[in-house]
Amino acid sequence: MVDLKYIHHSAFMIKHEDKSILIDPWVDKNENFNWHDEPITDILLTHCHGDHLGNAVEIAKEKDAQITAIFETAQYLSKEFNVNTRPVGLGAWINYPWGRALFYPAFHSNSLPDGSYAGVAASIILDIDGVRIFHAGDTCLTGEMKIIKELYAPQIALLPIGGNYTMDVEHAVVAARWLGVKTVVPMHYGTFPEIEADLERFAKLVAIGNTNCQILDPNTDA
Ligand code: NI
Ligand code: MN
Repeated sequence: MVDLKYIHHSAFMIKHEDKSILIDPWVDKNENFNWHDEPITDILLTHCHGDHLGNAVEIAKEKDAQITAIFETAQYLSKEFNVNTRPVGLGAWINYPWGRALFYPAFHSNSLPDGSYAGVAASIILDIDGVRIFHAGDTCLTGEMKIIKELYAPQIALLPIGGNYTMDVEHAVVAARWLGVKTVVPMHYGTFPEIEADLERFAKLVAIGNTNCQILDPNTDA
């Protein structure tokens, strides 16, 4: 049983058995989400931009959780904040007690808070109990999504739809088709004026074949 909860922006929590995993945990904007009570063991970061790093350091310290990130980002976090990190590269399955994760190139920039080099930006593929979830991070539409389907066959895709920094609604619809997923969850929209998106339009356009769009409400347990 894999339970997926949308928290805010690109932040998700995945619960499996007695463990909780956070991805891109910018969570303090959702006052209904209380991470202090969650059994968080791992935090996965697609990249180091502030809207994805979010509250990762604070959570890692309190929960003694490990942050997995691309090498340069992980090194920065462990040196600067003395948190437990797992530096990884692209394209290899990383094993955890709850399943495995693979970091795949995203087409996006990445930098540390001072603007210096933070390694490449990533999308993350998770494989938990036979459920494969693709968290796109920040990325544009790329032909790599056809390759991701061939290599990893995800069933669920978490896709940015807000445009400006990432794919927009129309490109996210194409991404869903190329990824071959059954379920699409839109993210990275509405947080800033420049990433407003028409959710209804996205849901309508993406619902072709056997793909369905699940719009998760950050304020309910989905
Ligand atoms: Ni970004
Ligand atoms: Mn972003």
